[in-house]
Amino acid sequence: MSQKSADSTMSKIVSLCKRRGYIFQSSEIYGGLDSCYDYGPMGVELKKNIKEFWWKSMVRLREDIVGLDSSILMHPRIWEASGHVAGFVDPLVDCKTCKGRFRADQLESMPCPRKPSKMVTECGGELTEVREFNLMFRTHMGPVAEDAAVVYLRPETAQGIYVNYNNVLQSSRQKVPFGIAQIGKAFRNEITPRNFIFRTREFEQMEMQFFVKPGTDTEWFEYWKEQRIQWYDKMGIRKANLRFHQHGDGELAHYAAAAFDVEYNFPFGWKELEGIHNRTDFDLQRHQEYSGKDLQYFEEATRERFIPFIIETSAGCDRTLLTVLVDAYEEEELEKDTRTVLHLAPQLAPVKAGIFPLVKRDGMPEMAHKIHDELKKHMMVYYDEGGAVGRRYRRQDEAGTPFCITVDSQSLEDQTVTVRERDSMQQERIAVDGLFEYLRSRID
Ligand code: GAP
Repeated sequence: MSQKSADSTMSKIVSLCKRRGYIFQSSEIYGGLDSCYDYGPMGVELKKNIKEFWWKSMVRLREDIVGLDSSILMHPRIWEASGHVAGFVDPLVDCKTCKGRFRADQLESMPCPRKPSKMVTECGGELTEVREFNLMFRTHMGPVAEDAAVVYLRPETAQGIYVNYNNVLQSSRQKVPFGIAQIGKAFRNEITPRNFIFRTREFEQMEMQFFVKPGTDTEWFEYWKEQRIQWYDKMGIRKANLRFHQHGDGELAHYAAAAFDVEYNFPFGWKELEGIHNRTDFDLQRHQEYSGKDLQYFEEATRERFIPFIIETSAGCDRTLLTVLVDAYEEEELEKDTRTVLHLAPQLAPVKAGIFPLVKRDGMPEMAHKIHDELKKHMMVYYDEGGAVGRRYRRQDEAGTPFCITVDSQSLEDQTVTVRERDSMQQERIAVDGLFEYLRSRID
């Protein structure tokens, strides 16, 4: 896709997100806060559904993985042990001409703020020497802003899992191999956040750390690679838009012996969606050393003691949400016009059904309200009686609602309604007392 059409696709998706209540610029009435976004009524439902879909597949349907919700602020020594204080840095340069600040390793793909048609390498601006910039946000614990009180906003949720490994092991009666899963906020002071919610400074991660016996790590690594790519497939993401990228020696994070990214073909190119890492025993060894606590595992069957290796699956929740939106977006050419439609998988769609009276009289609104009141006990539904029914369909198509239920004059006579399916636009008549079962089977 050319740069121009990529920009245009993204700007259409960004404006749909605002128009339909998915995502808003943070602090908009104050001019916005760069790289921070707020999820509106539809966005918050979509995000919740994505997180539930992940939790169900990683925790609820498995007996070997349990959940955790650790705090964002943790003991500062954790970040020394993890290597983040010394090594979580990006190379930074400033432009003396335009005062822009850029990642030194991305200059060739970074448009100049003053001459956006040129990249920073071509615009002629004078750049400073490269210096290292730590991406962790620092703050202070308590009322005194002194060095002894420095704490960090966590840049990944993973460390909260490692430092709770013993607590979970002892309280949940798990045995190696087993996993701990967590969904939560992470913060990185990115030098160049961009592409809408793709790279932001505050984001959510869905991470799972799987503790295995050394020597079995390669086998488990392959297993998790397969599981994770299948998860995106099950979520309805088109296979052709997904691929693996293996990290070469220069790309590997300081903790990883092997790493693959799941990548998605965004309008702005193939980019990382999730990282799958073989972290070896790096993290637990370091926490054992820095905390002075014994983090070895005792395997009863063999009477062996060892520090488990960790296979990590680390997905971005916001990035997955962007993927879901981009993959679902279509401007579909119809005979007379074009309709904008979000082909969201029914299980992820924020609203499962729109409920409309055909006209605002003759008892139709009352019957539609009754259906709405019954269905809302089980799923998100939306009542709408404003404007022509065709326009109401189009509004729901754009919002990604998979079904629209219309009460018409026949409904009052025989207690049936029409159900219109978003993607095919086909309608069928369904008995009101079978509606819930019909929708439930189509959504699952
Ligand atoms: N614990 C390992 C870890 O954090 P990572 O590759 O740095 O690994 C994992 O991050 C995932 O978190 C990424 O694949 C991406 O989906 C998400 N992520 C990372 N930085 C992000 C950012 N600035 N904005 C949005 N999502 C981000």
